[in-house]
Amino acid sequence: MKYFKILYMQVIIGKFTFLSFTVLLFIKHALIAQSPDKVDYYKKAAQQVRQMTLEEKVSLCSGLDHWNTKPVERLNIPSIRVADGPNGVRRASGSSYNSVALPATCFPTASALGASWDTALVRITAEAIAEECRAFNIQILLGPGVNMKRSPMGGRNFEYFSEDPVLSGKLAAAYIKGIQSRGVGTSLKHFAVNNQEFERYSYNAVVDERTMHELYLTPFEIAVKEAQPWTMMCAYNKINGELASENSILLHDILKKQWGFKGIVISDWGAVDNRIKGIEAGLHLEMPGNDGVNDRILMEAVRNGSLPESRLDEIVTELVAITDIAKDAFRINTLPDQQKQHDLVRKISGECIVLLKNKDNILPLPAAKIRQLAVIGAFAMNPRFEGSGSSKVTPAIVDTPFKEIKKLSLKNSTVSYAAGYTPEATTSDTLIEEAKANARKANVAIIFAGLPDVYEAEGVDRKNIKMPEAHIRLIEEVTKVQPNTVVVLMNGAAIEMPWANKVKAIVEAWLGGQAGGGAIADVLYGKINPSGKLSETFWNRTEDTPVYPGFPVKDKTALYGEGIFVGYRYCDSKKITPLFPFGYGLSYTTFAYSGIKTNKTSAQDTTEIIIECKVRNTGKIAGMEIVQLYVRNENEEMIRPEKELKHFAKVLLQPGEEKTVHFKLNFRDFAYYDPQVHAWQTSNGKYIILAGGSSQNLPLKTQINISPANMLYPKLTRYSMLKEFAKNPANKALYNELMNVALSTRTELTATGNETEQERKGRLVRFTITFNNMPVYKLIARTKGKFTEDMLAEIIKRAE
Ligand code: BGC
Repeated sequence: MKYFKILYMQVIIGKFTFLSFTVLLFIKHALIAQSPDKVDYYKKAAQQVRQMTLEEKVSLCSGLDHWNTKPVERLNIPSIRVADGPNGVRRASGSSYNSVALPATCFPTASALGASWDTALVRITAEAIAEECRAFNIQILLGPGVNMKRSPMGGRNFEYFSEDPVLSGKLAAAYIKGIQSRGVGTSLKHFAVNNQEFERYSYNAVVDERTMHELYLTPFEIAVKEAQPWTMMCAYNKINGELASENSILLHDILKKQWGFKGIVISDWGAVDNRIKGIEAGLHLEMPGNDGVNDRILMEAVRNGSLPESRLDEIVTELVAITDIAKDAFRINTLPDQQKQHDLVRKISGECIVLLKNKDNILPLPAAKIRQLAVIGAFAMNPRFEGSGSSKVTPAIVDTPFKEIKKLSLKNSTVSYAAGYTPEATTSDTLIEEAKANARKANVAIIFAGLPDVYEAEGVDRKNIKMPEAHIRLIEEVTKVQPNTVVVLMNGAAIEMPWANKVKAIVEAWLGGQAGGGAIADVLYGKINPSGKLSETFWNRTEDTPVYPGFPVKDKTALYGEGIFVGYRYCDSKKITPLFPFGYGLSYTTFAYSGIKTNKTSAQDTTEIIIECKVRNTGKIAGMEIVQLYVRNENEEMIRPEKELKHFAKVLLQPGEEKTVHFKLNFRDFAYYDPQVHAWQTSNGKYIILAGGSSQNLPLKTQINISPANMLYPKLTRYSMLKEFAKNPANKALYNELMNVALSTRTELTATGNETEQERKGRLVRFTITFNNMPVYKLIARTKGKFTEDMLAEIIKRAE
C-alpha cells in the first residue's frame, strides 16, 4: 500500500513519470502473481458472504451461461468471463456454447509444446496468450490440460503434453505461471484420470492407488504445488466408482488437504450430477448454468438441514475470493501486435519440431544446389495446425507451408506443388501420377502428410495409430521415383510409419499453430536447427501400444490393469523396440556427454543430491540439446519401471562449446507411492542415475545409495503376515515371538537322529519362509488354540 500512496502523491503533485507507471505496473503484477492466500481476498470474501442471502450464495455456485459467472451487483461481486484454450484464446462472440469464435492467435498445441521440453518457451507462450486474454477481457483461460497419454489413441492427446508425469507437470506449471503472471487465471484440467474420449461422460476409471498417484495425479500435483492455478476443472468420468465432480477423495483429501490447493474447482461443462455431493466434496462452480434447477436443490438442502449452510459458506467464500482476484487483474484495451504474435508463434513452433530421421544429412536443404523442389501433399496448401473440439482457435492469419518454403527458396529455383490426396484423405491414380511426375523432375521431394482433422478430435478416440491409406500410398509411390524424399508430418499424436525406411528424412511438425508453416520452412532450410524431442513414444504398430486391445474400453469400466506401465515405462518392461523412443530427436549438429558426478554416494532420502554432467556441441553449428536424467531403483521389493524421467534441461551450445548441467535430486526423485501407508516412500538401497539425450541413449551412469529417513510401516492387523512384523525394527522382538510360536508347531524340526544337520537347517529355512508369508491369525488354529485370540490381540496392541 505504501508504494501506491507514494505513486498516488506523485500523480497529485504532477511528478508521475513513465518510470512511476512502470513501477506501478510491476507492483500490480507482483500482487496479482501472488498465490491467492497471500492477499486479503479471503477475509473480504468472508465478509461479503456474511451479507448474502441464501439465494445469492446458491446462485454463485453455477454459471450465468456458457462463458460467464453470475454477479451479485449489490455487493460489488462481478461476473467474470472464461474462455477455452489452451493453444490460444477461443474467444466466443456470445454467451452460448456454439457462439462463433472471434479471431485470436493460434499457438502450437500442447503435444507440440511438450516436444520442446522447454519450460521457458512454454512460459513465453502462455504470457503471449495471457496478453490476448487481457485485451479480450477474459479472466480465466480454460487450460492447460495435463492428462497423461495412457494410450496413443486417446482422442485429445494433442491437447496434452506427454506420457510422462514429470515432463507434463513441469510444462503445465510453466504454462500456469506464464498466464497468471499477467493477472489472468487458469483452469488445470481434466482432474482426474481422464484418458479416453469414448463415452467420456460415462466411463469409470478403475485404477489402483499407486498407479493413480505415480502416473495420473503427479502432473496435477506438480502444477498445483509449483504454480497454484486459480482454478481446477474436474473431469467427466468416474474414478473408482465416484464421479470426479463429487469425488471427495480427489477434491478434498488429495487436492486441498494433501497438495494445499488454494483455488476453486470448476466442473467440466455438464459434468455435474448430484450438486449437493459436489458442494460437500469441494466442487465450487458448476459450468455452464443449470437454469436454476440445482440452485433450487441446494436451497432446499440447506433449508432442510441436509447440507450445512456453513459448508456452502466455505465454498462460496473461496469462489468469491477468486472472483475478486480475477476482477482485480490488470486489463488492457489494446491487442498485442498481431504480426509480432505471429512471429512469436513461428519461433515457438520451430522449437517444437522434432527431426526424426536425416539420412545422408539431406536436411537442411542446400538452397543453392536445389533447382527444382517438389512440394507434395494437400497439407502444404491447407495445413493442419490445431486440433478439433473446444480448444479450436480461429486465427486471423495462417501460414501456407508451400508459400513459406517458396519464400526461402532461391529465386531461380522452381518449387512445384501437387496435392497427392484430397482434404478427405482419399487419393486417385491421377493425383498420385501428378505427384510422381513433379517428384521425378525435382532434386528433392517434400511430402506433407499426417492425420486429417477428423482423426484427432475431442469426443472420439482413434481406432489405431495408422495414417490414412492415401497418405501412405502417396509416400510409397513418390519414393519409387525420388530417392531424396523428405516427409513432413502434421499430427497431434503418435503414428505408425511403415514407410519410414523408404524416405531420407522425417520432420515431425505437430500441430504447430498459425505460423507452423513458416516454422517448417525454417527447419527445412536450416534457419532453425531442430531441437525438439519426442515427449511420447512412437510405436511400430498399434498392437505394440500399452492397453492394446483394451482401449478405449467399451463396457464403461476402464480397468487400468497395465498399472504404472505406460509409454516408455511399458516399452522398457516389455522389451518392445519402438519406432522412435521417448525423448528422441535429432539436430543438425551433434552432442557428446561426459563427466557425470554426484556430490554424494550415499545419503538419506531427505538430503538434496546434486548430479552434474557435461554436454558438448561436437558439430559445426549452434544447437540446443535436451539433457535428460532418469532414475532406476534396483531394489526388488517393489515392482518399479526400468527407469523414470526425473529431470531435464534444454541447453544452447555454440559449436565446440561445453556446458555443465546441474540437477538437484530430492526425496520424490527416489520415491514410489506406497498404497499400504498411503504415502510416498523410498526403498533402502542402490539407485542408478542415467543421463543422456533420449530414453534409449543414456551414455552416462552413476549410482547412489539411499536410505529412508522416516520409514512408514503399514498398521499391523490380524491379517498381517509374520514378515510384516519384521519390517519395522521396533517390532523385531514381537516378530521373534511369533516365529517361535509358529516353528513350535513343526515337530519335524526336532532332530530325529536320522537326518544331517544340513537337512535340518534346510527344513528350518523352508518353514521360516512358509510362516513368514502366513497371516498371524492362522497361528491360533496352527497351535490348536495354545496361541489364543487374546495373545494375538495383545501382540497387535504392542506392535508399532
Ligand atoms: C471440455 C473442456 C472445455 C469445456 C468448455 C468441455 O467439453 O472437455 O475441456 O474446457 O468443454 O468448452
